[in-house]
This record gives sequence, C-alpha cells and structure tokens, in this order.
Amino acid sequence: MRILTGLQPSGRLHVGNYFGAMKPAIEAQDEGDGYYFIADYHAMTTMEDAATLRDNVRGVAVDFLACGFDPSKAVFFKQSAVPEVNELAWILSTVCPMGLLERCHSYKDKVAKGISANHALFAYPALMAADILLYDSNVVPVGDDQKQHLEVTRDLVGKINDRFGEGTLVMPEARIREGVAKVPGLDGEKMSKSYNNTLPIFGEEKPLRKLVMRIATDSTPVEDPKPTEGSIILDLYKLFASEGDYQQMVTDYQSGGFGYGDFKKRLWEAYWEYFAPMRERRNELLADPAQVDAILAEGAAKARAEAEIVLDRVRKAVGLR
Ligand code: ADP
Ligand code: TRP
Repeated sequence: MRILTGLQPSGRLHVGNYFGAMKPAIEAQDEGDGYYFIADYHAMTTMEDAATLRDNVRGVAVDFLACGFDPSKAVFFKQSAVPEVNELAWILSTVCPMGLLERCHSYKDKVAKGISANHALFAYPALMAADILLYDSNVVPVGDDQKQHLEVTRDLVGKINDRFGEGTLVMPEARIREGVAKVPGLDGEKMSKSYNNTLPIFGEEKPLRKLVMRIATDSTPVEDPKPTEGSIILDLYKLFASEGDYQQMVTDYQSGGFGYGDFKKRLWEAYWEYFAPMRERRNELLADPAQVDAILAEGAAKARAEAEIVLDRVRKAVGLR
C-alpha cells in the first residue's frame, strides 16, 4: 500500500501542526510504503519571494526530519525535484472541467483573503492530483480542508481511465484526519499562525517560556478550585504530560490551593521536555546541512524513478508515445 502526502512549507511549525499533521504522518510511516514531499511548487502560489521559499522549504525539511521522519522507512523529497509532475498536471488539465476548479473552496477562500487569483492558484487542484497520481498512491492522509481536492483527484482519474483505458491511473482513497482534536492557542482560539497565538515547536528557551506564561486565565483566587472545563493550560498539558501527571493537575485544579502560575510552570516543563530529543536532533541537522541535502537527494532519486514508470504508462495511453 502506498501512502503519500504533501507538506506545505509554511514557515515556523507550531504545536497545533505537530499534533494535527506531523505526528499522524510520522506514525503512518510504519503502515506502508510512504512518500512524503514538501510542496514547494504549491507554495509558490502564495509565496512571492525566493529567499522565503528557499528558507521555508529547508526549515520544514529539517523540522520534519527532527520530529521523526525516517528516510530509511519512507521516501522524503521536494516536489520540484520531480519536475515530471508538471507534465502529468498538464495531461490532467486537458480532462479537467473549469467548473470543477471553480467550485473549489480552497481557491475561493484564498481569493477572499486577498491572495491574487493567478492561474496557478486556480489550477492548484490539478497539480495536487498529479502529485498523488504520479506515484500510483493508494492512500492520502490529509486534513479535512483537503477533502474536496481529493474528490477532484478521483474525478480526474475516472475521466482519464474512461477516455484512455482502465488502469491508466490508480484510484486513490483519502484518509481524512478526523478525531484529531483542535489544539488551542495561547488565547483559547484554534492555534494558528494567522491568529498569532501559537506555541512553536522549536525556539529559544526564554521566549518560549514567556509565551507559556502569557496563556490567558481567569481571575479565580489561588486558594479556590479552578474550572477544568475549557482550560487552555490543561488542554495543552494533556498533550505533553503522562496520564498520571495530567490527572494530578486535574485534581489540583479541583482542590484549590494552587495558582495558575504553578500550573503554567508544570506545562512549561512538560512542553520543553517533550520536544527535547527533537531539538537535539534538529541541532545536529542544522550543523550538518549536507546530511539534509543527501536525504532529499536520495528521496528525489527514488521518487523520480517511480514517476518515470507511471508517466511512461500515461504518455503511451494518451498518445504522446
Ligand atoms: P495554520 O492554521 O497555522 O496556518 P496550516 O493551515 O498551515 O496551519 O496547517 C498545517 C496542518 O496542521 C494542517 O494539516 C492542519 O490541519 C494542522 N493544524 C494546524 N493548526 C492546528 C490546530 N490548532 N490543531 C490541530 N491541527 C492543526
Ligand atoms: N494541498 C495540501 C495542503 O495544503 C498540500 C499538498 C499538496 C498535498 N499536494 C498534495 C497533500 C498531495 C496531499 C497530497 O495541505
């Protein structure tokens, strides 16, 4: 079973990204033949400057490797290292009705947010379909915001196979991440870089500690019991602490006699410790950029070899060969 997913190089990763997207992707490595790529062509639809794109792609590669992507288990590469994907995207575009793209929420949302409506942004789902189909992927784990793009992909497979023969492309299944709870941000809203309320995965100790201390709390006096329902501190602590430590904090909330400063201190320690091994690995990778380049190059070579086989089959089927 081939599992493939694309990762947006969207800058500094936060705890919401980790529990919502990275951790499930890292765990999926043990399930099958994994293909993971950094969607740098896609990022160009919203990122205009070359230095930012380059830095973000590099940063995301390092962060994912630090957090547990294992190149001995899965193929890890940059989307643009396999430029053949553009050819498949073109072929898919020839069967893709305008209406299908016009209905895509993601495009409409981005335009509503003020992103200029260029052709690449509009054609994004066709390139995403090509990402998936170029490697004969069977399962595609994504967040529910990508559900519609997977439906477009499946539609395009149907059209290609109808027109050019069954088996030209492999029909993929979406695996929508459900039941992944939304991680709250420092203000209690969903943690998101657009809300400026994030707890980054990596950073300097002092500023990160300050962020934890900034978490919004109510004004219950130290000696009184504190409400556990909707507590940002408790919800975050649950992600990092052992079950026993978490239960202890719940008990201390309920009994009173502990201030929010104390709870924040416990949260800080658990959070800092949770990412300690990853921080260490990240420092090693940052000190050895050649290692990161070698991993990406090896991944690209494997991905490209696979892509050539699939693309050749498609070229023949559609009459280009
Ligand atoms: P942001 O909201 O910060 O812009 P992205 O939209 O780039 O984050 O999300 C990248 C991935 O991380 C997506 O798969 C998304 O589902 C996941 N994710 C982002 N924020 C959270 C959160 N607060 N809780 C759970 N998952 C999240
Ligand atoms: N569009 C996806 C996102 O915004 C990223 C992505 C690009 C992707 N190509 C993909 C995901 C192929 C799965 C498969 O998160």
